[in-house]
Amino acid sequence: MFGKRIKIKELLLSDNVNYQATVMGWVRTFRNNQFIALNDGSTNNNIQVVVSLGSLDDITLKRITTGACIKATGEIIASLGKGQKVELNASSIEILGDSDAEKFPLQPKKHSLEFLREIAHLRFRTNTFGAIFRVRHSLAFAIHDFFNKKGFVYLHTPIITASDAEGAGEMFKVTTLPLDGTAPRNEDGSINFKDDFFGRNTNLTVSGQLEGELAAMAFSDIYTFGPTFRAENSNTTRHLAEFWMIEPEMAFHDLEDNMNLAEEFIKYIIRYAMENNREDLEFLSQRLEEEEKQKPQNERSELGLIQKLDFVVNNDFERITYTEAIDILKECSHNKKKKFNYLIDKWGIDLQSEHERYLVEKHFKKPVILTNYPKEIKAFYMRQNDDGKTVAAMDILAPGIGEIVGGSQREERFDKLTERMKEMHIPTEELDWYLDTRRFGACPHAGFGLGFERIVQFVTGMGNIRDVIPFPRYPKSASF
Ligand code: 4AD
Ligand code: MG
Repeated sequence: MFGKRIKIKELLLSDNVNYQATVMGWVRTFRNNQFIALNDGSTNNNIQVVVSLGSLDDITLKRITTGACIKATGEIIASLGKGQKVELNASSIEILGDSDAEKFPLQPKKHSLEFLREIAHLRFRTNTFGAIFRVRHSLAFAIHDFFNKKGFVYLHTPIITASDAEGAGEMFKVTTLPLDGTAPRNEDGSINFKDDFFGRNTNLTVSGQLEGELAAMAFSDIYTFGPTFRAENSNTTRHLAEFWMIEPEMAFHDLEDNMNLAEEFIKYIIRYAMENNREDLEFLSQRLEEEEKQKPQNERSELGLIQKLDFVVNNDFERITYTEAIDILKECSHNKKKKFNYLIDKWGIDLQSEHERYLVEKHFKKPVILTNYPKEIKAFYMRQNDDGKTVAAMDILAPGIGEIVGGSQREERFDKLTERMKEMHIPTEELDWYLDTRRFGACPHAGFGLGFERIVQFVTGMGNIRDVIPFPRYPKSASF
């Protein structure tokens, strides 16, 4: 029975003294055979456990090593050491799990983030990753809180699907057919999926949007929050092959309602983390400041992490059309001096992350919502504007990251939608179940997708998306 244990965060919050307490956790350091810095993951702060000299036998003393798991009971007393109000004067110490000091991979020195990625279990026990994953938790909680308060229904959309929601063909196949070349074939040589587990060709979902739209046409407002998978070979600091996405879908919303909701949503969850994870954010802010010192002056950000978050929650996002963005980019000195890898020369091209980041970091210095993109570079389901060239799309771009949200008003007009699907070679027969939403009580509706890891990156200030997900999956890597 471990019920009487107190979490270290709770202990450190109060300055009550002279009472008995039991703590459990993992030893961070053990100094002078006397002072244990103990951490249980509830906070980045350690409790100091003091072992009175001579009170423990030699064998137990030797087993108090970095990484070992212990239970300590004793009196909580005022601490004389600096940086802590209280400490635990141990009357008994029990070793729950030994840790071989010789083999323990973490040293008291700084380890690189890349090295830590290889030891998934112990990276959770570092200050940096402790802070990141507590913030990640808070953001996830705030997301449910936001939508719950607004009366949205949390919808679980399938992970295995037969459709390609984005029409981009970046899917991982799901099959139980043999991979040794003996899978049944059709006459034309293609694989015959009739004998496959699902009797058809299936894949991991790239987005729950299409299923979400079905439910929005019944509940009015729904959201999904689940894993999505993309087999795009993008080895960047912003792409994962498995990432989590939040996709709200709202009936009776147009593009502007959609933008308003997305902006309110992002501000709400950031504010929640700022109010509930102050210590962790201050730690991450400090970390970022140190990291930035390694960069040349002109590449350092002007604002610290917390200042940046403060600024974002207290200011309106800039809203401009794709066409206006192209004009700004075409005319900017960066483009004229040929400093972009991809020069902006004409309307219609897709923006690269260097362009998105120029707009948010150099030009507007705040998050930007870009709207009304050319239809050629966006998905089939987006509502076609009257100009015949653009669609009612919106992307939200954040400083340091680029795109964090992609969304649109949806094409609710059956004829327009099917026409566009045919133009884009999207199989209408396979998506007949989706087209039913446009047959039976269609309504104007809109939605968006927020990349969860991208917002975690933004809030924690981490440069690489692989460091904000517990077990990252990316090209050539699926450890653990
Ligand atoms: O822009 P995307 O592809 O939009 C959709 O999937 C729509 N179905 C959303 C909707 O309207 N319901 O993806 C949405 C967001 C992006 O803005 C980005 O933040 C994130 O998902 N994202 C990724 N995050 C990490 N790794 C990847 N490979 C990502 N691809 C997209
Ligand atoms: Mg997108």
